[in-house]
Amino acid sequence: MELKDKNLYFVGGVVRDEILGKPSFDIDYCYEGDAIEFSKGLSVIRTNPDFGTVRVLIDNKEVDIASTRQEFYPKAGHLPVVENIGCSLKDDLSRRDFTINAMAKNTLTGELVDYFSGLDDIKNRKLRVLHDKSFVDDPTRIIRALKFSVRFGFDLDSKTKKLQDDYLANINYDMSYYRLKKELKETFDLNEDLALERFIKDGIYKLLGDSQCAVLPQNSISKLVEKYAPKNIWLVYLVAYNLEKIELTVEEDSIIKDYESIKNLTPDSDYEIFKLFKGKTLEAVIAYACYINYNIAIKYLDNLKNIKVTVTGDDLVKLGIPQGKIYKEIFNDLEKEKVLNPLMTYEEEIAYIKFKYHLFI
Ligand code: CTP
Repeated sequence: MELKDKNLYFVGGVVRDEILGKPSFDIDYCYEGDAIEFSKGLSVIRTNPDFGTVRVLIDNKEVDIASTRQEFYPKAGHLPVVENIGCSLKDDLSRRDFTINAMAKNTLTGELVDYFSGLDDIKNRKLRVLHDKSFVDDPTRIIRALKFSVRFGFDLDSKTKKLQDDYLANINYDMSYYRLKKELKETFDLNEDLALERFIKDGIYKLLGDSQCAVLPQNSISKLVEKYAPKNIWLVYLVAYNLEKIELTVEEDSIIKDYESIKNLTPDSDYEIFKLFKGKTLEAVIAYACYINYNIAIKYLDNLKNIKVTVTGDDLVKLGIPQGKIYKEIFNDLEKEKVLNPLMTYEEEIAYIKFKYHLFI
């Protein structure tokens, strides 16, 4: 079933992506008027009257329909407050970030609604804000601009670039870092070195805090991400920055801690390299390769990472070695030997232990 109504529009990213000929993952609908009233008779999952939004089930797919609404920012950089639910479509579109995201398409007639020349900007590959206070209201739009510019190969139009530069020269750090994190993740998860180049060159990194310095990687991050496939791609790019304003999950935090613990160390033997990286998150090791020392980290990832002692504690028991601190010593010793001689078989490991500990059983 297709949802069609003279007041119902596709809006934002889905309209932009259709014009660009790209797939869109979320379909956002906007109803000019009261979406909750409109959804009566549909299979409603939940409504949120404070925001004028409703989630419905269409052909087993959940879709969101938002009432047209305006937003205002009681505190610059913080979440906006919704007002004037049911306003005109033009007022709704005019609160949005860029002209390419401020178009709508009527679900009944297919007519494109484009008050701000978004279509021209798509043709000219330009990102343009709708009003001069756009970045002041919502500085996360600076990261969104970076994301769209990298994703679509667009540039900021000159006035928008000037507004961005002005904001970055005078940042209000009292902002929602929750939203900033979401956009940073989406931007750097694209795995494009260009995103980091622009992040540095345009001074966007300053949004992370007033004591930030630009940190340039020595090697392409995207190639290593492709080769080793870490889960938290965005952190491989940003781990060298101070992320203390951003709330991280336990997993994300362990990547930062791992990187901090290795970044100032330069191991000078295979065993030292093995010990430095063993048990560290893949993201931290790749970041070390990009930001600190390529050869050392690659040696670990390609040659040393999978080295594992095969002998177990049970084997030591069977050899008649009394349990105690000595077990740890034996395993450390064997591990060191195995790093020097990775092809060592199980039998050779046993032989090594017997020899080393003079266990002529
Ligand atoms: N929007 C905005 N300002 C923001 C975030 C979003 O004006 N800081 C508006 C834009 O009109 C955007 C719409 O809300 O098109 C939906 O936002 P979102 O789902 O984050 O982005 P999409 O444009 O759908 O892009 P993506 O393909 O990355 O999901």
